[in-house]
Amino acid sequence: MIRKYVFGQPIVTNAVVMDIMKSAQKLSEAVTDESGKIKLSYHMSENDVVYGLGEQVRGINKRGFSYISNATDDPRHTEDKHSLYAGHNFLILGRAGEGETVEGEKSFGIFVDDPGEVIFDVGETKYDELVITAGGDCVIYKIDGESLKDIVKQFRKLIGQSYIPPKWAFGYQQSRWGYMNEDDVREVVKKHHGQGIPLEAVYLDIDYMERYKDFTVDEERFPDFCSFVGEMKDQGIHLVPIIDAGVKIEKDYPVYEEGVTGNYFCKDEDGKDFVAAVWPGKVHFPDVLNSRTREWFGQKYEWLMEQGIDGFWNDMNEPAIFYSEKNLNAVMEELKSMDYDNLDLNSFFHLTDIVGGLSNNPQDYRSFYHDMDGVKVRHDKVHNLYGFNMTRAAAEAFDRIAPDKRTLLFSRSSYIGMHRYGGIWTGDNHSWWGQLLLSIQQMPSLNMCGILYTGSDIGGFGSDTTEDLLMRWLEFGIFTPLMRNHAALGTRIQEAYQFSHIEDFRNIIRIRYGMLPYIYSEYMKAVLSDEMYFRPVAFDYPEDAHAVRVEDQLMVGESIMIAPVYTQNAKGRYVYLPEEMLMVRMSSLENKTCEVLEKGHHYVDAALNEVVFFVKKNHVLPLAVLEDGVKTISDIADSEYKWLGFVEDTAEYVLYNDDGVSKKYVPENEWRTVSLRKETFCSCIEDGIS
Ligand code: GLC
Repeated sequence: MIRKYVFGQPIVTNAVVMDIMKSAQKLSEAVTDESGKIKLSYHMSENDVVYGLGEQVRGINKRGFSYISNATDDPRHTEDKHSLYAGHNFLILGRAGEGETVEGEKSFGIFVDDPGEVIFDVGETKYDELVITAGGDCVIYKIDGESLKDIVKQFRKLIGQSYIPPKWAFGYQQSRWGYMNEDDVREVVKKHHGQGIPLEAVYLDIDYMERYKDFTVDEERFPDFCSFVGEMKDQGIHLVPIIDAGVKIEKDYPVYEEGVTGNYFCKDEDGKDFVAAVWPGKVHFPDVLNSRTREWFGQKYEWLMEQGIDGFWNDMNEPAIFYSEKNLNAVMEELKSMDYDNLDLNSFFHLTDIVGGLSNNPQDYRSFYHDMDGVKVRHDKVHNLYGFNMTRAAAEAFDRIAPDKRTLLFSRSSYIGMHRYGGIWTGDNHSWWGQLLLSIQQMPSLNMCGILYTGSDIGGFGSDTTEDLLMRWLEFGIFTPLMRNHAALGTRIQEAYQFSHIEDFRNIIRIRYGMLPYIYSEYMKAVLSDEMYFRPVAFDYPEDAHAVRVEDQLMVGESIMIAPVYTQNAKGRYVYLPEEMLMVRMSSLENKTCEVLEKGHHYVDAALNEVVFFVKKNHVLPLAVLEDGVKTISDIADSEYKWLGFVEDTAEYVLYNDDGVSKKYVPENEWRTVSLRKETFCSCIEDGIS
């Protein structure tokens, strides 16, 4: 049951697709404070658990900290940060049942549809109190259900079906900020495929552009882009260029000229095109909150699509601001007037503050405006909608340009609602072990918000990776729909073939390809039925007090549970099994062992090159039959499977498959049900049923 409460004059965000009557009653827990903000307060008993909030730091259970929805370009995702790149304002207050379990019926979900700043103080100020503070104009949805899963499902129906990428986007992808030209890209492909490591896509970061200008290609680095895209396609490789939010201010640059004459840019207080700076220097931001601008900006992607491009990543769309023209001028004036002969404590820190404060300055976000189809709105009121609408602009254009085909699209910044148009990656993480754990913990929270096509920069973006970190990260990355290795300029090179144990990297990435029928099937079923692909263990076992406390294991699809290793030099880890399960240990697709483990706590060995996961009782999963030397998904036969599972009496698996490109999704009554009985299928014995 969903109840809708409206406060003030909310902005239409398009987060929600279902038309729900507003409740005749008042939301009793809501009060309006002196500044006009709405505050919701809930008492949390000792064992209550809070789930959700999408892309944020810290654990699966969000208790004990404050999270602020205020999309921010912050490349240090440390646990003291209150905001990352998104506004994912959905949480579930999981009420404690008997013992330490969660009781679905007493639990409820809250979605705050407010694109400005929203604060979720989940017991940071007062340990037992959850306080949500939103602006005075917002819509709040409160959702009751039978279980945690049911609450999420209702919410997901409310916000609409998640984005579906092409099937190739489930293959292994390689990126690096620093591939400068055609030859760099060729080498990446050659080395992966030459080493027998499957590879589906290579990303083009900002250096493919001519001086960081959107919708241009540097002609020296890519002299014949169209044929280069074709050359890559012939090898089964998709090139995925980055598109940044800011449009360079440069005379005679057509996108800039059209933007000015068409009146497509955000305005400053005086009604002039707002000037900020990002990679290209000074830029204007397309006013993607305006439908006319969305149409214009989205159509610009066509030029790249005409050259064979079928995937994009949208970046810097919080929007990130290195500095605004106005603020830079003010800071420069102040610096000139400073006596820098002898800076003392106050003056030195004042200097570093004003210079450091140039980037992503809150004052800048209060100094430009959108024209939301006739209504002038100051940016900070709708800040979290920018990345959403940049991505929506592209997706709406793809529907016009290539209506029958799926196009890969994901974004850095997002708001709930954007999940219908594209996925996200989790931004600029670091090559730290703790960031691998963070990435594991973010996945179910993102899935709750409808963001299913997602993954982190595998190996870590900032800082130098190490061979063991990359390997462990890939072992987790096998299960994330977006499996992309990406790193920052200047960091240690981290393509899988750069390390000494190439064989192990090859085996791990091949395991992903072997599991693709399962991963794709589970992803598609999750999308088409509004379910979660990644779930906290407690969602499947809410009545198990131990399962409720598990923070580093995840349910993936209907058949398996994963417990990734995320600490350096570990040779295994503790795992909690909420029921008897089959442990599968693979060092390659061909080399696996299985063992039934009973319910309870176990120490599980996992050598550095081993992928370990657990199959639920009477569950199975399809594995692809992989020839040696498989290079891309298209090399895999799509109709022949082996089955791996734990069948005590009977198991049924509903296998979803389709052509992976068109939007003709297979109707539910045509999904293939495979039934396996113990007589024909023993635990862990692969059966070549096709
Ligand atoms: C941003 C992106 C990162 C990209 C870099 C250069 O930091 O998050 O992925 O590599 O910009 O474009």
